[in-house]
Amino acid sequence: MPNLPSGHPDSLGPVAAGVPKRIRAPRIAKSKFEAATKSGVAETAAAPKPEFSFALKPADIARYLNRFVIGQREAKKVLSVALCDHFQHVRFTLEGNAAPFYQKQNVLLLGPTGVGKTHLIRSAAELIGVPFVKADATKFSETGYVGGDVDDLVRDLVRRAGGDVKKAEHGIIYLDEVDKLATRGEPAGRDVSGRGVQTNLLKLMEDGDVPLVSPNDVTGQLQSAMSAMRGGGATQPETINTRHILFIVSGAFSGITEIIRQRTGLPAAKSKPAVDLLNAQVTTADLIAYGLEPEFIGRLPVRVACHGLDADDLFAVLRRSESSLIHQYERAFAAYGIACEFKDDGLRQLADLAATENTGARGLMTICERVFRDFKFKLPSSRVKKFSVTARLVNAPAVELRRLLAGTLTAG
Ligand SMILES: Nc1ncnc2c1ncn2[C@@H]1O[C@H](COP(=O)(O)OP(=O)(O)OP(=O)(O)O)[C@@H](O)[C@H]1O
Ligand SMILES: [Mg+2]
Repeated sequence: MPNLPSGHPDSLGPVAAGVPKRIRAPRIAKSKFEAATKSGVAETAAAPKPEFSFALKPADIARYLNRFVIGQREAKKVLSVALCDHFQHVRFTLEGNAAPFYQKQNVLLLGPTGVGKTHLIRSAAELIGVPFVKADATKFSETGYVGGDVDDLVRDLVRRAGGDVKKAEHGIIYLDEVDKLATRGEPAGRDVSGRGVQTNLLKLMEDGDVPLVSPNDVTGQLQSAMSAMRGGGATQPETINTRHILFIVSGAFSGITEIIRQRTGLPAAKSKPAVDLLNAQVTTADLIAYGLEPEFIGRLPVRVACHGLDADDLFAVLRRSESSLIHQYERAFAAYGIACEFKDDGLRQLADLAATENTGARGLMTICERVFRDFKFKLPSSRVKKFSVTARLVNAPAVELRRLLAGTLTAG
């Protein structure tokens, strides 16, 4: 198995090492425009035009994602188009054009657990040249006193943009686990807060102004008051506008398949392809029936369902993805000078076992952990310098480990 360095956060190499030059993350180039906004000089009609170099086409982004994410062709397509559209829009507005009727193409990604929803966005983030923030919807509450306040997402964008409000106003916010905000008609507890969080997100998703300093942040309030006094007036804008911020949200929406089935009158989905077929037909009404607010769902016009991963997909995840778990194991053993070689029949067996877990690619971790636990414990103190992962080893790890250690185990 080639030990490919890659640009993915899960991989071995430094972040951009494996990204071909052609597909390097775009940058909003430093320009006089940027310097002007940073130093607080108000933008004028004569402000120099920013250089925004983004040469990627949707197919380039999809090709890049192919290196890490197996399958999910439709989701890759939708995401690539949404990202390119966003970049083109950023360029258009940064060039000084007004786009008063622009409608954001916020994206909703759904599908079973462990099939690559978060992984897709995490991989795409490597390519994103605009500020990018990721958070789980579960960490927010309606008031922001217990748990976070959704406005913090926007303030985080400013931090990611190094304090550059203009840049942050064109960033991307990724909110995972949004299905946990569903209320499902239950009146009490977390659900009330879930609805409140959805309501708070509405203004951000469309066109809102968020104060740069949180009203709950007493120190920040004091600091900004003091710097305003010192400077004789505000040098930074006090709010950040969310009109151009792209939102990508995702969630497993477990149980939504049954809602779609009831509406469509299709037979119960017993197999993975049947579930995929149903999920692909998700409508606004289904998502509302699931417990999301119509206004919230209405602001997520682009929807795409990720498909389940069968044993063949899981084999490909192990064998082909640059973020494959096997690199993690290779690294772990290599740290003790042990070469661990994964054979195709071993990978196939791992994939077959993982498929029965029904947790998508997460099942691979569960199975690998079980298979390799004792290997990881015992081999580092043995004289074993090399071993192969075959179907036989995966099926009977204890037997193979004993065989491997016979005569080679040192004391300890
Ligand atoms: N299609 C895929 N190709 C390659 N690796 C994958 C794929 N799907 C999942 N993985 C691996 O499994 C891990 C878990 O996947 P991910 O976090 O994307 O799940 P998810 O779809 O977001 O599930 P959940 O709804 O439970 O959050 C990823 O970190 C990645 O290593
Ligand atoms: Mg996820």
